[in-house]
Amino acid sequence: MPTGLRGVGECGRADHVAWPANPPVDLYRFEMKVGSHQFHSDLPSAKVWGFNGTYPGSMIHARYGRPILVRLENKLPNEVTGWGSPDISMHLHNMHTPSASDGNPLDWFSSRAYGPGLTSPGEYKDHHYPMVYAGGDSREALGTCWYHDHRLDFTAGNVYRGMAGFFLVYDELDSGNENDPNPLALRLPSGDYDVPLMLSDRQFDSSGYDLFDEFNTDGFIGDKFMVNGKIQPYFHVSPRKYRFRFLNAAISRTYDIQIRYNGVAQGFLQIANDGNLLPAPLGRTSTTLGVAERCDMIVDFSKFPVGAELYLVNRFQQLDGRKPEDTLLASPIPMLKFIVDRPLSSPDYSRVPETLRELPPVNLNEVVTTRDFVFSRDGGAWTVNGKFFNGQPAATPKMGTAEIWTLRNASGGWIHPIHIHFEEGRILSRNGVAPPAHERGRKDVYLLGPNETIRVFLRFRDFSGKYVMHCHNLIHEDHAMMVRYDILP
Ligand code: C2O
Ligand code: CU
Repeated sequence: MPTGLRGVGECGRADHVAWPANPPVDLYRFEMKVGSHQFHSDLPSAKVWGFNGTYPGSMIHARYGRPILVRLENKLPNEVTGWGSPDISMHLHNMHTPSASDGNPLDWFSSRAYGPGLTSPGEYKDHHYPMVYAGGDSREALGTCWYHDHRLDFTAGNVYRGMAGFFLVYDELDSGNENDPNPLALRLPSGDYDVPLMLSDRQFDSSGYDLFDEFNTDGFIGDKFMVNGKIQPYFHVSPRKYRFRFLNAAISRTYDIQIRYNGVAQGFLQIANDGNLLPAPLGRTSTTLGVAERCDMIVDFSKFPVGAELYLVNRFQQLDGRKPEDTLLASPIPMLKFIVDRPLSSPDYSRVPETLRELPPVNLNEVVTTRDFVFSRDGGAWTVNGKFFNGQPAATPKMGTAEIWTLRNASGGWIHPIHIHFEEGRILSRNGVAPPAHERGRKDVYLLGPNETIRVFLRFRDFSGKYVMHCHNLIHEDHAMMVRYDILP
């Protein structure tokens, strides 16, 4: 049976296997409720739905090895007008989570109603995150994760309403302290200099009302670019190193980002990909981010004159939910302005070591099964292996084994950012060849371009129960491009 804290509105049913050894030591409460938010100083305040009423939602700083219990209290109004649904499910994206705490799309709840994965409605639901897995191997620790609503059929509307936030994980190596005396600590930029940046887009009419269309099954593309919920904001920075954690939290848009000074792309060091540090930093000048992908980069502002202005830009033009245009924009879209005018309060002791986190081994001898998943379209909606999501398991891997999953895009000229819950994978090949360096780390989103095929190595380890794989273009997800898979004990 799935493990974890069972049920909605039930408290403290501690049937999780790791429970006795790892009681929850950090408790959080999320009230899902209406909040007021200003997307831009020229716009009137808007109503959002948020975790604790804010957009983005409250950020959690977690620690590998410190279990967490989150109580989710659903206080959203019973509104059925417009898009979204007040019956919600909270998924912690990339977390290694017992099935009952995964925020499965079937596990939505409110005090009035509940999804097919649950047994009763409830005012609250508890999620348990053990925060340790694979026997506590420090190579498995995570980094930049995020959470968002995952309500079956209504995820896009709910995320658009504001239901997303960051969840960062630290450990001994990536300790979140650039002055850490522990010799193991990497001492990456920390505190005020460790900055998550959530990218998304939005569309308003002339009076500031949202224009969101969840019925156009191609996807949703907004024309206003937001960072952490603000349209084209600016950010005063000090002349030193920063760690930026970029997250593509858009509904359907793919970004290609750069940091430019006087129109010239500046180099950065990519240190992490999705939820994990890479084995070594990679020098780059741009990166593509599919929906739900993350990239941590180190940018050093010490080389710019006082008052210098740099821009985070998006080089992709995207006009519909299909995919970005083939040619990069000659004048990329500025999304965030950095102004290097904050005095340095203390010397920058942060470092970017030459080695970061070792990757767990990929042992192909463990592979017992290969499965093929074909992503396509049928009429207006989206399919996996010719089927719309039906809530029934499409695959049943066995705990303790490894598999190769082949993801193939047979839908024509579309991009599908495919996300697999629970277990991270490693890309063995992309269109028959080894993936680029930044995709060789642990991944949870596989950006599947037109006609592409990606082979992924997955190990199913320590939990059983139901999980899903789906397209993270949230409109495609809501229009059935999802499969359930169950890990058998
Ligand atoms: Cu980020 Cu299934 O989701
Ligand atoms: Cu898709």
